[in-house]
Amino acid sequence: MELRVCRANRISGEITVPGDKSISHRAVMLASVSEGITQLEGFSPGKDCLSTVRCFKQMGVHIEDSGPGKVRIHGAGLYGLKEPENILDAGNSGTTMRLLLGILAGQPFFSVVTGDDSLRQRPMDRVITPLRLMGAEIWGRKQGSRAPVAVSASGKLQPIKYSSPIPSAQVKSAVLLCGLFAEGQTTVSEPVLSRDHTERMLDWFGADVQRYDDGRTVSIKGRPVLRAGQIKIPGDISSAAFFIAAGCLLPGSEMLIANVGINPTRSGIIRTFKEMGADITLLNKREECGEPVADVLVRQAPLHSVEISGRHLPSLIDEIPILAVAATQAEGTTVIRDAAELRFKETDRIKAIALELGRMGAAIKETPDGLIIEGPVPLKGTVCLSHGDHRIAMSLAIAGLVAEGETIIQDSGIIEISFPGFREKLEQFLS
Ligand code: S3P
Repeated sequence: MELRVCRANRISGEITVPGDKSISHRAVMLASVSEGITQLEGFSPGKDCLSTVRCFKQMGVHIEDSGPGKVRIHGAGLYGLKEPENILDAGNSGTTMRLLLGILAGQPFFSVVTGDDSLRQRPMDRVITPLRLMGAEIWGRKQGSRAPVAVSASGKLQPIKYSSPIPSAQVKSAVLLCGLFAEGQTTVSEPVLSRDHTERMLDWFGADVQRYDDGRTVSIKGRPVLRAGQIKIPGDISSAAFFIAAGCLLPGSEMLIANVGINPTRSGIIRTFKEMGADITLLNKREECGEPVADVLVRQAPLHSVEISGRHLPSLIDEIPILAVAATQAEGTTVIRDAAELRFKETDRIKAIALELGRMGAAIKETPDGLIIEGPVPLKGTVCLSHGDHRIAMSLAIAGLVAEGETIIQDSGIIEISFPGFREKLEQFLS
């Protein structure tokens, strides 16, 4: 499937974006092992979250679609999941596979999880290593580093104190979720605070969660009773980022993106765009189900370059491709360092964005752990590849709005992973 994008004058209007993908996954997982019925509102319609739903249905959880963005989950309780009759398929979703492994490690049954071609190339040892330390019986291809991964009933899980070498919410969450099934206190520390949706949601469901060192260390008391309830999921800032970038770049633009999650562990893109000179205002700030939410107003403004490294990375890791697009139009040299994790995403995002923006005429250079981008440089429309990565495809679409001529993004059906309806929304608000 091809997505064709032409240069646009401005973007304006008020939109909403799909529900937060990270929060949607966690809501299905925790609701499935809780007591009672959870009603989700604002659930992500992306294929990734549907993979999580499918896996839990295969383990006997009754999950109903109750209208657009609405899902009703009949909790099976902490010990109510059933052995799946077939292999669980996480599709393209790293979050599904890594978090699910934490839960499967605590089950008294055998299970196997696999994924698509991209997911089967991604490292799983980062979660398998700590889960084994907890006593999990878990194996994977390539010496336990790649899916398919098999998990069998272990004896008693032990709580651990795990110091994660990388700031990864997926690693942290897998250990905490496994900690639900271990007797005693399981603790995870990370070098920099990564997205903290799991901690917030565990707390929301009534688990005993403690946080220290500004949140970089979290511990959970095992075997809680998790209580179901109503959860309102905010719009995904990672999806909003594409419209924020378009609003920053296209002259005369004014966009209001309503109901966006602005959790500080996710909103690095807003801080960074503002540092680049963007005109962004957060309106109607509020908290819903333990997560900060706001309406984001963006108006076009001239951007200048920025340097991003170190502790700033985790809060905008998924937004580096769209930031690279904005940097091509910003005055000066943008330098992104310490972002080697991007090489382990749905594709090697450093390589992919450098290659594709380079094809469009950008002055962009790949470094081992980041990118160097000179701006402003006029872009030219051309034929680009998504590299089977939803965020690369959408970033190139926004690049196409400022490029001369037509940009054709091949294999753009992959956008359905996180943002069904992206193209229609884009067309609707352009003039
Ligand atoms: C996610 C964590 C991040 C992020 C991914 C979603 C999550 O990955 O890039 O898109 O929902 O926990 P890492 O944990 O590998 O940093």
